[in-house]
Amino acid sequence: MHKRTMIQAALAAALLAASSLGLAQDNKFRIGLILPMTGQQATTGRQIEAAARLWMAQNGDTVAGKKVELIVKDDTSVPDVTRRLAQELVVNEKVNVLAGFGITPSATATAPIATQSKTPEVVMAAATSSITEASPYIVRTSFTLPQVSVVLADWAPKNGIKKVVTLVSDYGPGIDAEKYFKERLQLNGGQVTESLRVPLRSPDFAPFLQKVRDAKPDALFVFVPSGAGAAVMKQFVERGMDKAGIRLIATGDVTDDDQLNEMGDGALGVVTSHHYSAAHPSAANKKFVEAFEKANKGLRPNFMAVGGYDGMRVIYEALKKTQGKGGGDALLAAMKGQIFESPRGPVYIDAQTRDIVQNVYLRKVERKNGQLWNVEFDVVKDVKDPGKAK
Ligand code: DHB
Repeated sequence: MHKRTMIQAALAAALLAASSLGLAQDNKFRIGLILPMTGQQATTGRQIEAAARLWMAQNGDTVAGKKVELIVKDDTSVPDVTRRLAQELVVNEKVNVLAGFGITPSATATAPIATQSKTPEVVMAAATSSITEASPYIVRTSFTLPQVSVVLADWAPKNGIKKVVTLVSDYGPGIDAEKYFKERLQLNGGQVTESLRVPLRSPDFAPFLQKVRDAKPDALFVFVPSGAGAAVMKQFVERGMDKAGIRLIATGDVTDDDQLNEMGDGALGVVTSHHYSAAHPSAANKKFVEAFEKANKGLRPNFMAVGGYDGMRVIYEALKKTQGKGGGDALLAAMKGQIFESPRGPVYIDAQTRDIVQNVYLRKVERKNGQLWNVEFDVVKDVKDPGKAK
């Protein structure tokens, strides 16, 4: 064996030993929650941690005779840090489940650790289609960009939008959004005339928006990750794009409930597609939003919070089903196929793909009682990730 392969084999053995040791050791059930708590993606971490704590406050911390412990780690959205933290959590803290993962590179960097240690990795935020294929131990409770982008590409041409320029963050989810939006729009007789990509870190949208203005499409389609939407919206309005007759359409990441209220009137009328709106009119969601705001000084939950809350439910249910006696494989099996009503609507974890199947809503930003909301006006039910349908 090569030295590198030997080191990898030794590490794999250590990871596996650590995870099986953890099983018999005590009466605790540990969840290692790795999130960006600082830096550009900090709102994702704040939302998911708050949601996980809310779930535990509402459902207790004893499940199937085990005391549930949440261990939160800040990976600052640097994938090498995520991987190191995941390894430490498995080897030293003997976590039973790894969870969180604010961005795609963090989720995929952890995949080999999950596989080697047979630890379920519950992805609560990251949304590139291919993530679940990086390890058979990955289960996702967020969404995928293809899932929401195709729904918007079906809506657009029926609403006078034929020529579109796309603008996405230049990494996994952005490339997924660009590809699936474009393919579906073309299938529907529309056309993407130009595809622009902006860097993930500290993007400057101004030069890209100028290009769009010159190209004069019917609409600009945007994907940027949670936390970056307000900057896009501000510059879109400042450049007078709306006055030039260019509509803004986007995935719901852009009109993020975490920031929407600060975006101002420029956001009014923007149509997006997504799996969750804080304005979703169900009893379960009203209860969720109220409890979340009450526990977090009025902070409105966004789609990240729902991914975290539902991820905790999936973990709790798996622990119950295995009666606190299962290792990683048993927990994983108990996560597959779960069906439940989320604050976002009905969902299930597809047993084959380990990805979430859910409704995708068309929404329009409206002002209600002095606040901005993503108001749902149409729904496509039970959407599977189109990235895996082939
Ligand atoms: C990802 C991150 C986000 O903040 C988001 O809104 C969608 C996708 C990601 O990195 O996968």
